[in-house]
Amino acid sequence: MTQLIQSISEIRRSVKAFREKGLRIGLVPTMGALHEGHLSLVRQSLEETDRTFVSIFVNPTQFGPNEDLDAYPRTLEADMEALSRCGAHAAFVPSADEIYSRDSQTWVTVEGVARPLEGEYRPTHFRGVATIVLKLFNIVSPDAAYFGQKDYQQALVIARMVGDLNVPVEIRVCPIVREPDGLAMSSRNVYLSPSERQQALVLSRSLAAAEGMIRGGETGVERIETQMLRILRTAPDADVDYIAICDPRTLEAVKTVQGRVVALLAVRIGSTRLIDNRVIEP
Ligand code: PAJ
Repeated sequence: MTQLIQSISEIRRSVKAFREKGLRIGLVPTMGALHEGHLSLVRQSLEETDRTFVSIFVNPTQFGPNEDLDAYPRTLEADMEALSRCGAHAAFVPSADEIYSRDSQTWVTVEGVARPLEGEYRPTHFRGVATIVLKLFNIVSPDAAYFGQKDYQQALVIARMVGDLNVPVEIRVCPIVREPDGLAMSSRNVYLSPSERQQALVLSRSLAAAEGMIRGGETGVERIETQMLRILRTAPDADVDYIAICDPRTLEAVKTVQGRVVALLAVRIGSTRLIDNRVIEP
């Protein structure tokens, strides 16, 4: 059974005991409402480390003022069952008060790679993400930490932070897990009505179209993006925040495809904001 740990002192004690036995510690940071995407990270950690800790914390500082912090799904009981079935050693489920002191004055701000795309549409988001993830690293001190390619820019931001601040943790990025029809799994998919759920397929479809064009020799980003937009607009309730074809390491926009690129998009379907991406090799 997965042990439920709520305090920082207890998780430190638990990790220390394993460390002293020479065991390797893996951390999977999550906000809960666990699905197969999260569990794929847990399984990867179980394969590569000796003890897997999963944090479940709906981090208030990464939500903007008009975002879905209060509505965000919270399913602790089901999460604990899923983690037990996987064989995760412990879940760290702190309260907001345990994590953030009232007089906290410090933020982690990544520049460069955190600025475009999500950074533009959610200006304080990555500051909240980088701060909570560094705090979790300092609380758990894992040897390796597992993130999903689903949040492509987030994984880059965290890797940048870890490099820049000499944080002694190995960052592992795992592939996107999708529903059978192609929709990337997300805790936010539960917000979608049946009609919106069907319309949400335009995200993966437009990424597949971009891949098809690039594999077929198309190098003009404008033409690729026009085609992606055309597909997105077939969903009547879709509102596009951005589509972008970027350098996979810097997230700088590419004009002509010359090597590996990443296509990324953020689309609101009704009131639900979805993101997806695909790394494409010409
Ligand atoms: P959350 O959205 O719960 O996601 C936790 C981890 O699961 C992230 O690394 C995310 O990329 C990964 N993930 C989500 N859906 C996935 C999918 N379909 N396939 C593969 N991996 C997937 O991302 C966060 O939480 C937070 O920002 C966090 C890093 C925990 C900081 O609060």
